[in-house]
Amino acid sequence: MKPFFSIQNCLSLEQIKHIDQLENKLETLYHTGHYTDRGQALGLSKEKDMPGHILNEIYDIIKDKVEENVGTLSAMSRAKVFMYPTYGVFSRSVMPMTEHIDIDKSHIDYNKSPGYSILIPLTSNYKESTVVWNAVKKDIDLDVNPENLDILEDPDYTYTKDENDLTSHCVHTKSNLVGKPYVFEHTPGDVILWNRKYVHASSNSSNYDYILDTKHMTPELNNLDANPGSFKTLDKVVKRFALLLTRFER
Ligand SMILES: [Fe+2]
Repeated sequence: MKPFFSIQNCLSLEQIKHIDQLENKLETLYHTGHYTDRGQALGLSKEKDMPGHILNEIYDIIKDKVEENVGTLSAMSRAKVFMYPTYGVFSRSVMPMTEHIDIDKSHIDYNKSPGYSILIPLTSNYKESTVVWNAVKKDIDLDVNPENLDILEDPDYTYTKDENDLTSHCVHTKSNLVGKPYVFEHTPGDVILWNRKYVHASSNSSNYDYILDTKHMTPELNNLDANPGSFKTLDKVVKRFALLLTRFER
């Protein structure tokens, strides 16, 4: 199975609008997703957790195309493997995520094999990206650092200037020791998938409300210019998306 890929034009404009509506009509307040790992800031977002029926409804919209791409349906049925969603969130990202994996002991069905993270870009003011590396953790309970990673592709890959800029908030991968960063632009209509075990991050950009102070590993307001009162506010959404996490039942 491919570790990460995108499906272009997976959703029609109507389907994207429908998913937008599901978020808007969901009568839940946004909570702050304040992601940390061993006390270090990973990223910040405003989120609404999806109730089960919305999670299943969205998964059903993309299911056929996802299964077609994840492996073949026939291979999956021969091996009696099927993939199912365990968790979904509508996210409005305000500080980009640094490198991490999507596996945590607190997650639903932790005893089942991790499936894919499925990111559905929604309509947004800005077009940002998700970056995925061809690398997995050796010990998933330990940090993402070069000693704890199996690099599955040329570790000596030289970053381009763009790749350096997009990953400038990432702490360990900045050392350029983890191979090529694969950049997936958030184009509404496309769906981006990576195996939950693979190291990934948001792209960095000057459009986020907060940036990561990599010296102290704390969020800092992203100052747009020198004028007083010119800070962005949390209402200026950078990156909107729906994210589904899946597992394999064997
Ligand atoms: Fe993630």
